[in-house]
Amino acid sequence: KNFKICVIKGDGIGVEVVNETLRMLKAYEKILKSVNFEFIEAKAGLTEFFNNKDAIPNETIETAKKCDAILFGAITSPKPTEIGEELNKLYKSPILTLRKELDLYSNVRPTIDYNSNIDFVIVRENTEGLYIKEEYYDEENEFAIAKRKISKKGSERIVRFAFDYAISNNRKKVSCIHKSNVLRVTDGLFLKTFEKIAKDEKYRNIIHNDYLVDATAMYIIKSPEMFDVMVTTNLFGDILSDEASALGGGLGLAPSANIGDNYALFEPVHGSAPDIAGQGIANPMATMLCCAMMLDYLKIDSKPIKNAVKRAFLEGNTTADLGGSLNTKEVTDKIIEYLTLE
Ligand code: NAI
Ligand code: MG
Repeated sequence: KNFKICVIKGDGIGVEVVNETLRMLKAYEKILKSVNFEFIEAKAGLTEFFNNKDAIPNETIETAKKCDAILFGAITSPKPTEIGEELNKLYKSPILTLRKELDLYSNVRPTIDYNSNIDFVIVRENTEGLYIKEEYYDEENEFAIAKRKISKKGSERIVRFAFDYAISNNRKKVSCIHKSNVLRVTDGLFLKTFEKIAKDEKYRNIIHNDYLVDATAMYIIKSPEMFDVMVTTNLFGDILSDEASALGGGLGLAPSANIGDNYALFEPVHGSAPDIAGQGIANPMATMLCCAMMLDYLKIDSKPIKNAVKRAFLEGNTTADLGGSLNTKEVTDKIIEYLTLE
């Protein structure tokens, strides 16, 4: 079978880690035999912005829409204080634009820690909550208000996504994270929707429960093994997933996915790391784990990639950020060497 992958390398180490990930994927393609990956490159990021005054050209969005999945490296965002007013007005964040244009409403962030049995996934709603950015300041009375939107449709689709994700990834439990004791209307709706969908016959083999977000923040530190899949609203998901990433192997091992009904984009959590860009020492593992998530999405066996990354990690064949002494290319060589079908 033939798969078209839209490849957006971006800036800085984004280019380096994506290049090595594609080299690994080509090696894996040979092992798999029956699948063929076609890489279609598309541009986005700061270099593109300085060249053409457009950080995310329409062509890139069109290319993304024609592909089966998108692999995204990282981009450098311009500092508003450094580029002047005219350019600031023209700048659009590539990742936010893609999320919006492709309606990528679920943000999936696994926490992986090879030294323990922590292995859970946060599914964050990506389009509503406090991120609708409806805020205003009342001059006369000197207060500021932010609106928080929770819709029935938005809640239903993210909750269904979480349960379907649990089924297709062999996970056992979905926990709803909320603050419905205080936010009785908004999170009340979110929790009610969760409980309704959990009863669906399709999900009868998945355990479900719910926790308050503040307690969850504590449990993530104290007993992370109690979690499997968590589903939550936009801001809570943002905060909890950053908290969770501190438990895992750090930025060098943190993959993420942005998934909608028709498109899916996979990107490491880290940025373009200008401090180490161009030196060939960036850790490619996070992007390789993104690639594994992409294969899961495409229903292609990803186990060999996950196992190879884990083995390289456990054997200390890592880059400096994880305490090793290999460079990007050497880590990739090891991972390619470890790729085998079970
Ligand atoms: P960053 O994630 O690029 O770097 C933070 C620190 O972690 C740096 O010391 C860096 O060297 C290190 N690091 C990150 N990834 C690494 C890897 N794979 N291997 C080894 N070390 C790694 O975050 P920072 O410095 O805050 O942002 C740099 C640029 O990236 C900014 O322009 C920012 O806006 C952008 N950014 C882009 C993202 C994206 O494209 N989705 C996400 C986060 C930041
Ligand atoms: Mg964040």
